[in-house]
Amino acid sequence: MEILSIINEGSKLLKKSKISSHLLDSEILLSTIIKKKREYLILNPKKQISDEKLSIFKDLIYKRSLGKPIAHLLGKKDFWKDEFLVSENVLIPRPDTEILIETILKLCSQKKGLRILDIGLGSGCIILSILREKKDFLGVGIDISKKCVELSRKNTIKMGLKNRIKIFKSDIDNFNSGKYDLIVSNPPYINRFDLKNLDRNVVDFEPTLALDGGLDGLFKIKKVIEKSSKLLKKNGKLVIEIAYDQKDMVCKMLNYNNFYVNKVVRDYAKKDRCIVSTKI
Ligand SMILES: C[S@@+](CC[C@H](N)C(=O)[O-])C[C@H]1O[C@@H](n2cnc3c(N)ncnc32)[C@H](O)[C@@H]1O
Repeated sequence: MEILSIINEGSKLLKKSKISSHLLDSEILLSTIIKKKREYLILNPKKQISDEKLSIFKDLIYKRSLGKPIAHLLGKKDFWKDEFLVSENVLIPRPDTEILIETILKLCSQKKGLRILDIGLGSGCIILSILREKKDFLGVGIDISKKCVELSRKNTIKMGLKNRIKIFKSDIDNFNSGKYDLIVSNPPYINRFDLKNLDRNVVDFEPTLALDGGLDGLFKIKKVIEKSSKLLKKNGKLVIEIAYDQKDMVCKMLNYNNFYVNKVVRDYAKKDRCIVSTKI
């Protein structure tokens, strides 16, 4: 069967299953299976694909039609300047989280040799992206999930950062090691009521542990702030991701825990996404 027909068939099936990115997804899956860039598909529409590859494609299209995210089917996701390994046990890195990287790089443009901690590192996308950009920074990452720790270690090795970061499996409550110049966290912050209403792709396929912020969505954020207040050096910075409607409550918590709020940063959709604060 030729490339163009395969893509159209795949796209048609995904459209029937109400996958809005049906054409793109069909192209991405086929280009990955034949190990070529998407442009190759467009330039070679008549090229024949082997039955073996076609059968792998059909299997992936079927899984995608059930809502399984593309990142899970491919086992990888681009974030900032790198490609991260992902699995169903970690949150798929989100483009909105890149706001944290941008913010931290601006904040640290003149800084050298900082020690940074990532609380709830997941795939490692935040701290590893920062370490790649700031060659003399050292990092520590913690996560309560063993699977996240294992996967982030794989990403660390893949990115050649093994000597610049230590990763621990730890509940935030039990981690009391070191003093840091900067703490970054994208904690679970969805309230339990909203959790049920999230997109099917997210609720059915992403780990609840990465999303569930308790009844009010603020349970884990509060833990991050309280712990950071102990682990940050004086004048150290906390950069935390929040939901669009949590700014006021989180700023209050920060003030209560002796933080000065420097700024609230909005995401590409102009929604409040990240708060920068200083331990005073
Ligand atoms: C929203 S995900 C963020 C993952 C990654 N940093 C990112 O931005 O893609 C939150 C992470 O916090 C971890 N986590 C949840 N509760 C935790 C706790 N009590 N202590 C440490 N990590 C926790 C989860 O396992 C998950 O990996």
